Amino acid sequence: MKIPGPHSKALGLRLRAREQRNVTFLADDFPIFWDSARGAIVTDVDGNDYIDCTAAFGVASLGHGNPRVAFAVADQAQRLMHGMGDVHPTEIRVRLLDRLAAILPDTLTKAFLATSGSEAIEAALKTAMLFTGKSRFASYRGGYHGLSFGALAVSGLERFRTPFAGVLRHEPVLLEYPRSTANADEAASRAREQLQPTDDIAALVVEPIQGRGGCIVPPPGYLQHVATICRELNIVLIVDEIFTGFARTGTWFASEYEGIVPDIICIGKAMGSGVPISAAVGRANVMDAWPPSTGEALHTSTFLGNPLGCAAALATLDEMELLALPARAARLGERLGARLEALRAHSIVRDVRGRGMLWGVELRDAGAAFAAVKNALTRGVIVAQSGQHGSVIAISPPLVIEDRQLERAIAVLESSIGAVA
Ligand SMILES: Cc1ncc(COP(=O)(O)O)c(C=O)c1O
Repeated sequence: MKIPGPHSKALGLRLRAREQRNVTFLADDFPIFWDSARGAIVTDVDGNDYIDCTAAFGVASLGHGNPRVAFAVADQAQRLMHGMGDVHPTEIRVRLLDRLAAILPDTLTKAFLATSGSEAIEAALKTAMLFTGKSRFASYRGGYHGLSFGALAVSGLERFRTPFAGVLRHEPVLLEYPRSTANADEAASRAREQLQPTDDIAALVVEPIQGRGGCIVPPPGYLQHVATICRELNIVLIVDEIFTGFARTGTWFASEYEGIVPDIICIGKAMGSGVPISAAVGRANVMDAWPPSTGEALHTSTFLGNPLGCAAALATLDEMELLALPARAARLGERLGARLEALRAHSIVRDVRGRGMLWGVELRDAGAAFAAVKNALTRGVIVAQSGQHGSVIAISPPLVIEDRQLERAIAVLESSIGAVA
């Protein structure tokens, strides 16, 4: 397929003139402009169809344009598009909070709703400071939690922090994120050695599988050790499930698979199927570190608990339950993983890792990964480049992807990697 087509190219020129130039990478052969999408299929402005193996940053887990979600959002838009965040709340916000409490572990009962993933992280970090009276954070090399200042304060990706280091005065205690083949006990001992000597750490933030860091899966049992260490050192454990949550890795939440219950869980992305909504949900005693409101919230935002986001999230949860998406992700993920493992036969493939419907194929270098991503695009498959150094191809399709679409996508990926090799 010859892409980008003329309409994408023309839009590229207009975007170049108007958008801050750091936002979108624009080249002769990249990107395509999306026009519409349904299920796992995206159609660009030139009428070309693609199989989306990114779920658009992990948001479209339920597939693009789910009709029930679209209807619920449209219906809510007719009734009430916006409430008053921290002053006059809405009925639908209460319903969503009840619903979240019902699918999360019993102890995670009190939530702070927000719009983006970064905002959920900000709320969790502030909560940990209030709860512990401490003000430093620990996190992981390669970890990604968003790009607002609070989220940057725990970022483990140097390139995002460096230009803004002037504001980020406190470096986080950065731990090594162990790979699945590492010894969990030894990795946990090293984490303890780094955390124990300082008594000023309010929270440790961790992704149960590092997404943007290159789809890195920790060894079994490691996160249980980490939970124990946090408990012993009075460190609030914040598990960032913004990417891994809502069935992505084969269970409702990845921490469930790991057998841990965090003090605070951060969720977003797939929660609203594309309508921005996120949350930090924690144990009641931790969340109650915030004083009762006396009329002015210490942390809030205009769009807190926005009714359209709530309607989208409620319909998303209904659909996910109806379609038994965690089990579907686990089943499809077994097959996807087995097929991706076979890619190791190519000499440029360094590693294949993942769980459920979140996988990474690490290539020789970033150049090879981007070449494979672009090659797959010309063959009608959208995958993303990822990893600390950009050398990973990330595969995170909608969980409703049809068997034959998944087969086709894997075949294309294989031949694209072959072409680059
Ligand atoms: C694990 C994780 N946390 C936080 C974020 C930030 O979310 P947002 O981009 O909605 O601020 C992301 C986004 O990719 C993410 O993958």
